[in-house]
Amino acid sequence: MNKQNRSTGLPANAEGAPLNEESKSNLILDKKLSRRDMLRLTGATSLGLLLGGGGVGGIMAARNAVAEPTVTSDADSIPFYGSHQAGILTPAQNFIYFAAFDLTTTKLADVKKLMQAWTTAAASLTTGSLIGNVNDNPNLPPSDTGEVDGLNPSRCTLTFGVGPSFFDNRFGLSSKRPTLLADLPAFTGDNLDPKWCGGDICVQACADDLQVAFHAIRNLARIARGTAVLRWTQEGFQRTGTADPKGTTPRNLLGFKDGTGNPDTTNEAEMNEVVWNNSSDGPSWMSGGTYMAVRRVRFRIEVWDRSSLSDQEATFGRYRHNGAPIGAKDEFDDLNLKAADASGKPVIPPDSHSALAHGDGTVKMLRRSYSISSGLDIATGQLDAGLLFISFQRDLMKQFVAIQQRLSKSDRLNEYMTHTGSAVFACFPGIRKGGYIGEALLG
Ligand code: HEM
Repeated sequence: MNKQNRSTGLPANAEGAPLNEESKSNLILDKKLSRRDMLRLTGATSLGLLLGGGGVGGIMAARNAVAEPTVTSDADSIPFYGSHQAGILTPAQNFIYFAAFDLTTTKLADVKKLMQAWTTAAASLTTGSLIGNVNDNPNLPPSDTGEVDGLNPSRCTLTFGVGPSFFDNRFGLSSKRPTLLADLPAFTGDNLDPKWCGGDICVQACADDLQVAFHAIRNLARIARGTAVLRWTQEGFQRTGTADPKGTTPRNLLGFKDGTGNPDTTNEAEMNEVVWNNSSDGPSWMSGGTYMAVRRVRFRIEVWDRSSLSDQEATFGRYRHNGAPIGAKDEFDDLNLKAADASGKPVIPPDSHSALAHGDGTVKMLRRSYSISSGLDIATGQLDAGLLFISFQRDLMKQFVAIQQRLSKSDRLNEYMTHTGSAVFACFPGIRKGGYIGEALLG
């Protein structure tokens, strides 16, 4: 198999050294495709697909070829295969590129093919390998767009799920829709824009490098051409590991530590209780999966920036400097919602975000959100910035909806934000080696 020199990108011999002129022309001769070759390679897919640079057919044709992995350390790579999907309990990477897709096909067989092709691609994307048989055929578009050539996997994870619309009548799967998967009810104060809502399929790409996350979505979209199209995307960020080597709780764009009250992702029993579906929760294809709620939230940051520190702290019920609950010392001290001052007034305002979200402490969820900034809103002259709120839970109604209903009615934070996008997805259980994404549902 022909190789590439990693630094030059030029064709290389088996040891990775650049090819001499004779070998190069042999390679080009080897790789010149006759019209018959082209038709054989494209199979049922159109010639345009190959020339356009991708598609399920293109990827399937390249499946057996081995891409050269970028040299990485174990710490750079998070296994794609496993009993649960990565990107859920995985400590949050620096960046997210979130994508919702709509299927354009009406054939279940196409969906299955897409998932198989995405599985092959995802296994490469998460190990830092280029997709397909690298860029060595001058007569074809490269099988990978190439912008991550030479980059390490940057702890890239790809998490796949399907939305309620996936189970409409198109594919004959309506009887397999989990009752726990339904569009969210309208919440008080929602200001949703359809351009950031819904989707048949979601792919959450997270990585410590935005170019790596972008590359993943770009190539998955390219592979999907003819079967699915992007519906909406949102990129997001957190402080990087370089800026915060100790990995303390990240701060959101309102300046507060965000994630303190999350359950312990290393506690298996708690994760089984809060996050993972089991066979008694619904259809067996979701066993080991979880439900994702996504809300695109815009902050009124100009208003927030004019509010006093004490107002801001009362809004969250926590101190800004260290994230401790008001009245407590340490970030991880319990929220004491019964504590009162000398006049009997609760120390933590009952309508503060933490107090309302915490409730009686029995209902939890795993939040894995990212800050977002989509530049200037020219209509208002204000920054379009906020939070891509993402939470994982075993039961959308009992967890996300129950908490959001409380928050939407009385949260002090509502003065400073508005929900502009919304979607829910059933995230598949983990993918087994040799299997494919969503196999238990589609197989
Ligand atoms: C979109 C704007 C939001 C912002 C800026 C925000 C920010 C925060 C912050 C700073 C905390 C306190 C620190 C922590 O425990 O992480 C917190 C706690 C929490 N938030 Fe939010 N949040 C937002 C929306 C939501 C939504 C939509 C929900 C769920 C429906 C939610 C659920 C929670 C929960 C469950 C806690 C932990 C409460 C506890 O201590 O038990 N948040 N949030």
